Amino acid sequence: MLRVAVVGSGPAGVYAASALTQHGDVAIDVLDRLPCPYGLVRYGVAPDHLKIKSISAALRAVLEHPAVRFLGNVEVGRDVTLAELHDHYDAVLFSSGAAVDRRLDVPGEDLPGSDSATDFVAWYCGHPDAPVDHFTLDARSVAVIGVGNVAVDVTRILAKSADELRSTDVPDHVLEVLQRSQVQDIHMIGRRGPVQAKFTTKELRELGELANADILVDPRELELDEESQRAIGAERALRRNLEVLQEWARRRPEGRPRRIHVRFLLRPVEVLGTTRVSGLRLERTRLDGTGNVTGTGQMCTLDAQLVLRSVGYRGLPVPGMPFSEWTGIIPNSAGRVLRDGVPVPGEYVAGWIKRGPTGVIGTNKNDASETVAALLADAPALPPAPVRDPDALPALLAARGVDVVTWQGWQAIDAAEAALGRAQGRQRVKIAHRAELLRAAAGAGDAALAAPPSAAGSTAAVPT
Ligand SMILES: Cc1cc2nc3c(=O)[nH]c(=O)nc-3n(C[C@H](O)[C@H](O)[C@H](O)COP(=O)(O)OP(=O)(O)OC[C@H]3O[C@@H](n4cnc5c(N)ncnc54)[C@H](O)[C@@H]3O)c2cc1C
Ligand SMILES: NC(=O)c1ccc[n+]([C@@H]2O[C@H](COP(=O)([O-])OP(=O)(O)OC[C@H]3O[C@@H](n4cnc5c(N)ncnc54)[C@H](OP(=O)(O)O)[C@@H]3O)[C@@H](O)[C@H]2O)c1
Repeated sequence: MLRVAVVGSGPAGVYAASALTQHGDVAIDVLDRLPCPYGLVRYGVAPDHLKIKSISAALRAVLEHPAVRFLGNVEVGRDVTLAELHDHYDAVLFSSGAAVDRRLDVPGEDLPGSDSATDFVAWYCGHPDAPVDHFTLDARSVAVIGVGNVAVDVTRILAKSADELRSTDVPDHVLEVLQRSQVQDIHMIGRRGPVQAKFTTKELRELGELANADILVDPRELELDEESQRAIGAERALRRNLEVLQEWARRRPEGRPRRIHVRFLLRPVEVLGTTRVSGLRLERTRLDGTGNVTGTGQMCTLDAQLVLRSVGYRGLPVPGMPFSEWTGIIPNSAGRVLRDGVPVPGEYVAGWIKRGPTGVIGTNKNDASETVAALLADAPALPPAPVRDPDALPALLAARGVDVVTWQGWQAIDAAEAALGRAQGRQRVKIAHRAELLRAAAGAGDAALAAPPSAAGSTAAVPT
C-alpha cells in the first residue's frame, strides 16, 4: 500500500487526494494546520457567494472516502517535521496555498488603518488566526488598492448592508461591525487601465447591482490607447468588462447610502497619516503602449481612513522545504519538488504553492492531477517509509500534546455552527475562535483516529 501525506486541505490538496484514490491501494492522510478543512473555500470565498461555497460538498465527499483520513489542527513544520513525515509516508505532497499578502513598498504602508485585503478577508471569513477586533469600519472613506477579483469581493462586502449579509455564515462579531459601519465611499483603484484589470465580468457586474451602493466611473479613465484597443478586439472577456464600465460611466448616482468609485490609471505613492491613515497619495499614470504604465508626475490625494491593499497573495516557506523568495513558491517541475534544480523522489507540490496565487478553484484540479501523475509514475521506485503503522503519527502528535481534529471532530464543528445559525434564524454562523472550534470538536472522541482501510477498487472523483 502506498502511504501519502497531503499537507493542506484546500482545493489543491483535496483534488490531489481524489486523484490518488483512483490509484487503488493507497492510504492518504490530509493534514491541515486549521481545525477545519477546505482552505480558501471556507476562509477566502466571499460569504455571499453561496453557490461557489457549495463546492465544499464535493470536497467533503473526497475527505469521507475510506482511503482518506483528515488530521486537522496539525501544522507541518511546527507540530511535525518534514523528516518525520518522510518516516511515516512514502510520499509527501504539499498543497499549503499562499497565505500572506504581497506588499506595496510605499511609505506609510504600516500605519494603523493600512491593512491587507488578506487580513480583511480572513476577518470577515472568521479565520481563527484573524483577531476578532482588528476591523472597526469607522472609516468614512476606504481605498481598496488593486483591481483583481479579491478587490471586487472586498469592495462588495464593504458596500453591502449588514442585513444583506445576515443570510450568510459571517461570524457574529463581523455582523455587529458591519451593522455599525460608517463607510460611505469605497474607491477601488487600478494602477493600469480598464482593459488591463484582472477582475472577471461576472464578478465585476455584481458591483453595479447592489441595493445599498451607487457606482461611479469617470469616463476619462476609460479612454483606451492603441494596445488596449487591440486587446479588446482580440479578447471578448476584456470587451465585456469595458462595456460594463462604460454603462456605469453613463449612470447618475441615485442617493444610495454608499458609493463605489472604480478608478484607473492611478498608482499609490504614499499612505498618508501621522498616527493612523488619513489619506492616500496617488500618481496619475499613462499607458506606455505595451500594456504597462509610466508615471506622469501628476499627483493627487484621496481622503481615506482605511486603506486595503489587494495586490495579490504570496506563499510561505515550510520548514525543511526549498522555497523561492523571488516567486513565493516551492520550486518544482510539473509538481516534483526541486532541490538545487534536481527533482526529489517522494516530495511533491500542488495548487497555489506550486504555481503561485492565480486561478479559480477548478484550476487546481488539473494542476493536482499533473502532480499526482508524477507521484504515481515515481511510486514504484520510492523507498518505502520505515514506519508503516497508521496509528504511529497520531500517537506521536498526541504525545506532543497536539489536539488533532479528526473528521468526526470537524463534523461536530459543522453541527455546532449549524446549531448556532438555527438559534438566530440563519443557516449557519461560523465559529471564529480556535479554542471554541477545538471545544466543539472535542465531543467527537478518540475512536475517530482509526486508520483508514485500503481503498482498492473505489475512487473519489470531485466535480469542479
Ligand atoms: C479571497 C479569495 C477569494 C476567492 N474566491 C474564489 C471564488 O469565489 N471562486 C473561485 O473559483 N476561486 C476563488 N478563489 C481562488 C481559490 O480560492 C484558489 O484557487 C484555491 O483556494 C487555491 O487552492 P490551494 O489548495 O492551493 O490553497 P488553499 O485553499 O489556500 O489551501 C491551503 C491549505 O493548506 C493549509 N496549510 C498551510 N500551511 C500548512 C502547514 N504548514 N501545515 C498544514 N496545513 C497547512 C491551509 O490551512 C489551507 O487549508 C479565491 C481566492 C481568494 C484569495
Ligand atoms: N470570484 C472569483 O472567481 C474569485 C474571487 C477572488 C479571487 N479569485 C482568484 O484568486 C486569484 C487571486 O486574486 P487577486 O485579486 O488576489 O490577484 P490578481 O488577480 O493578481 O489581482 C491583483 C491586483 O493587484 C494589482 N497590483 C499588484 N501589485 C500592485 C502594486 N504594487 N500597486 C498597485 N496595484 C498592484 C494588480 O495590478 P497589475 O495587473 O497592474 O499588476 C491587480 O489589479 C485570481 O486568480 C482570482 O481570479 C477568484
